[in-house]
Amino acid sequence: MKLIKPFSIGIIALSSLAYACGGGSQESTETASNSSAAPAQETKVSLEDKYKDDPIFVTGSLKAKEAGCTACHMLERKVVGPSYADVAEKYENTPENVSMLADHVINGNVGNWGEIQMPSHPHLERSDVEDMIKYVLLLKR
Ligand code: HEC
Repeated sequence: MKLIKPFSIGIIALSSLAYACGGGSQESTETASNSSAAPAQETKVSLEDKYKDDPIFVTGSLKAKEAGCTACHMLERKVVGPSYADVAEKYENTPENVSMLADHVINGNVGNWGEIQMPSHPHLERSDVEDMIKYVLLLKR
């Protein structure tokens, strides 16, 4: 008993000390991040901002716009088709996947993302479609 008592008081003192410190510093960081806009902006960097200087982005996004992909696809939000970011998350950026996804765009596809069919795009050059797919798969969050 003689041994246990000072020991347990020590524990209580230590833990309340840790609580006081931890609680205090947590509160102050919260207040700091709430009052400053910088951290909020950091989490909001769009994929466009993140990759806009990459030549793959520049070429691919231009071709995708010209080809009308933007009617059904947005970078970060599902519209008719999946967002490019979701496609980039699902498929690794490998030559095999670029080729497979180019086939899906050229021939049309359904079932990988739901019931809605992507129409075929037989008029597009394969090399152009591959540039678009490389751009899509670049868009990792
Ligand atoms: C009319 C709407 C529409 C247009 C235009 C369209 N898409 Fe799609 N896209 C879809 C839909 C819907 C899906 C989901 C298909 C599925 O479930 O397999 C899809 C899926 C995809 C996928 C993923 C395919 C897979 O197998 O996972 C890619 C990549 C893609 N589209 C790229 C493009 C590109 C590049 C263009 C422009 C050449 C384009 N899409 C034009 C509607 C569209």
